[in-house]
Amino acid sequence: MQDLYLQAIEVLLTKIIVPTLFSPVQVGPYMLANRIVMAPMTRNRAGPGNAPTEMNATYYAQRASGGLIVTEGSQISPQGLGYPGTPGIHSEEQIAGWRLVTDAVHARGGCIFLQLWHVGRISHPTLQPDGALPVAPTAIRPDGKLWTGAGMLPFETPRALETDEIPDLVESFRIAAANALASGFDGVEIHAANGYLLDQFLRDKTNLRPDRYGGSIENRARLVIEVTEAVATVWGADRVGIRFSPTHPFNDMGDSNPAATFGYTVSRLAPLGLAYLHIVEPASTDPILAGPRPDARYFRPRWRGPLIANRAYDRERGNALLAEGAADLISFAALYLANPDLPQRLRHDGPFNLPDRKTFYGGGEAGYTDYPAL
Ligand SMILES: Cc1cc2nc3c(=O)[nH]c(=O)nc-3n(C[C@H](O)[C@H](O)[C@H](O)COP(=O)(O)O)c2cc1C
Repeated sequence: MQDLYLQAIEVLLTKIIVPTLFSPVQVGPYMLANRIVMAPMTRNRAGPGNAPTEMNATYYAQRASGGLIVTEGSQISPQGLGYPGTPGIHSEEQIAGWRLVTDAVHARGGCIFLQLWHVGRISHPTLQPDGALPVAPTAIRPDGKLWTGAGMLPFETPRALETDEIPDLVESFRIAAANALASGFDGVEIHAANGYLLDQFLRDKTNLRPDRYGGSIENRARLVIEVTEAVATVWGADRVGIRFSPTHPFNDMGDSNPAATFGYTVSRLAPLGLAYLHIVEPASTDPILAGPRPDARYFRPRWRGPLIANRAYDRERGNALLAEGAADLISFAALYLANPDLPQRLRHDGPFNLPDRKTFYGGGEAGYTDYPAL
């Protein structure tokens, strides 16, 4: 009898204490309905002037039942653009376009953060104002080609930013953050992942600067810390998230010791009290030249606030990581793209629509707003 009693208490405690994808969670000032996050996804479907449209609003509103939506990367300035058809957050037209999105998501009870993006060297003169060279920490050409609208072209060697240009760059992040506030977002995520400008400063394959923004880990982390502090002056730190991908080789990236680089950076950001840390975890194929594997478990003791884990999660692996306490939320990209009602489908363990890679980037409603709900 006593055993049964204890068992019942245990089950009850487990239900209350052990979090799952479906338990609510506090992120900054927001109590989110569940721990399922729509990961940022570039879809190249903005309208004229790189401004979001009603179609974009429909797409995000369809996905509003997740605890949090992080939008696709949104360039902070014309110089931050690296792909055709990606939405910006630096003009009046774009601010108004994003307002369509935030209103539609809020009407469905969702919470939405804008991802602030500068591509750095992952661009091309045909995409830059006045045909200028893209900028980077160091003049190192990325390997490969990019899609420019004028077809696939090889990358060109970027121009290294001068030290005295950095304050203006930080200021353009701050202004973009203020624009996001005017658009009605609930917060912003700083894109410091996937080989774009802030990541190019952080990792030592792309940053050979001789000044205070290069060389040592402390110097490589300086820009991202300055940007975060500037953005937090607009939003308050508790509505600012940040995303890193310590080992992702995408965009010709690498670092001699990713755990050391990102461990230090995270330890410097931790005291600010940010909304969350969003980690794209290592895939088994990512090269790790030295140091421990910088996954969610590695960052957990270094970060007391909300932690979002990402990369190839499903219901079982997501719930296991949450139960272990190694992360507080799980973000889903491709699976969310194809399943607008992903929380409901995860609850019932499927069935899931399969993502169609042919319609990921660019196009219209097909492969965008026409994935069916259950
Ligand atoms: C179509 C597509 C576009 C993406 N665009 C972005 C982006 O704009 N910003 C970003 O940080 N990551 C972007 N990613 C990466 C995803 O957010 C995520 O890290 C990756 O897909 C792994 O998650 P998954 O296994 O759940 O798909 C994109 C991924 C996909 C599939």
